[in-house]
Amino acid sequence: MARAVAEGARSVTGTEVELNYYVAVEELAGYDAVLVGVATYHHDMPVTFKSYFEDAAVRNVSLKGKTGAAFGSYGWSGEAPKLVLEILKNKFEMIVREPPLSVKYAPDQTGLEKCFMLGRRVAESLIHEA
Ligand SMILES: Cc1cc2nc3c(=O)[nH]c(=O)nc-3n(C[C@H](O)[C@H](O)[C@H](O)COP(=O)(O)O)c2cc1C
Repeated sequence: MARAVAEGARSVTGTEVELNYYVAVEELAGYDAVLVGVATYHHDMPVTFKSYFEDAAVRNVSLKGKTGAAFGSYGWSGEAPKLVLEILKNKFEMIVREPPLSVKYAPDQTGLEKCFMLGRRVAESLIHEA
């Protein structure tokens, strides 16, 4: 899913995209947009994500006004991308792209196309703002 999102963003001329498994919280402020991929476990985001956002908050990482999006695969309830998006919006005051994108289990072609379009739309919104 993340590769398809990144491809979609790269398809917009003038966009620089990094696809990372992990980015140090101090480096987040160096990006115009952050698109978070997160799967749902036990009706929640994995605890590593909670610690990550807690860490960013403690270190006063400033993401205000930057663009945020969230996507992820799920099995039956799929809360995590929505929860992450709420944190990006309410705690970090990012401008978020709603709704979050959830795809059931491994994405099929349609799911990958939705991922591509998410990346593309976020990149387009940044290019139009610039
Ligand atoms: C221990 C465990 C708990 C899970 N809990 C949920 C859940 O509460 N809701 C849900 O929608 N999917 C749940 N799932 C399904 C995962 O979200 C789904 O398999 C997802 O595709 C995993 O993505 P990943 O392989 O990228 O981590 C759970 C899976 C496991 C193994």
